[in-house]
Amino acid sequence: MKNISRIVSLILLFAVLILSVACQIEVEKEVDAEADAEVGAEVYTDVNTKVNMEDNAEADLDEKGDITMLKTENSQLTYFLLPPETEGTISVEQALYTRRSRRNFNNTALQVEQLSQILWSAYGISDGNRLRTSPSAGALYPLEIYVVIGNVTGIEPGVYKYDSNEHKIIKTIDGDIREELSAAALNQRMVNEAPITVVYIAVFDRITERYGERGRDRYVFMEIGHSAQNVYLQAEALGLGTCAIGAFADDSVSQLLDLPADEVPLYMMPVGNY
Ligand SMILES: Cc1cc2nc3c(=O)[nH]c(=O)nc-3n(C[C@H](O)[C@H](O)[C@H](O)COP(=O)(O)O)c2cc1C
Repeated sequence: MKNISRIVSLILLFAVLILSVACQIEVEKEVDAEADAEVGAEVYTDVNTKVNMEDNAEADLDEKGDITMLKTENSQLTYFLLPPETEGTISVEQALYTRRSRRNFNNTALQVEQLSQILWSAYGISDGNRLRTSPSAGALYPLEIYVVIGNVTGIEPGVYKYDSNEHKIIKTIDGDIREELSAAALNQRMVNEAPITVVYIAVFDRITERYGERGRDRYVFMEIGHSAQNVYLQAEALGLGTCAIGAFADDSVSQLLDLPADEVPLYMMPVGNY
């Protein structure tokens, strides 16, 4: 009888041991899964480094939602930018009151969120469909926005074209050309110092087809003014500085940016911390 109860106790003890080992394995599995998820989250949220972006290069955009990521489309490096913020920390009145043309920039890199916001303010989509932050006669949008990038965290230096519809930038030229752009802008030092310069291009045909001379001689320039003021105010709201630049050698800028014949450079805006 004694032996039987000993055997039963041993069996029970053994069962308890097996159960606790099994539970421990489950817990470890869960901890591992959580750790994996965290690593995944890091990859997904901290994508502004080349390694992470390359890891994600083939990933489905829709799954990522609102992150900035790199993708190669038609062998062109493309960054999908963060969706813009539509609320800021200062009022329009304050931005109007404090806005100034600022020409001295420090060495601080621009953050990708700031780049995203600046481009969106210039010519981004604001109705979820095709209308933009900047007004345009007949909604024809005759401008193209290029951005010369020298120092933006997580983005390779180069010349990029902004695609308003998809809020992305597509690299057209490799490398940091700020020094050459500054030389083309009659050696205005701010172009070399600022982490980015937005370059406004006009495609006149887009507007002359409907509006003829009036479109060419008036509307295009009015539209650049609208957009550039957006950039002034957005920069101010972000605590950044910018300055409109009209003084530059047109041919040199066209050559530097390798612009097609129908794209005419009209305006530049270096943007950075000051
Ligand atoms: C069409 C236009 C072209 C300009 N070009 C230059 C330029 O090439 N270099 C520069 O330093 N500032 C340029 N500016 C900025 C003006 O100098 C500046 O707006 C003016 O001094 C008034 O200062 P505020 O913008 O701080 O009010 C330009 C402004 C406009 C509207």
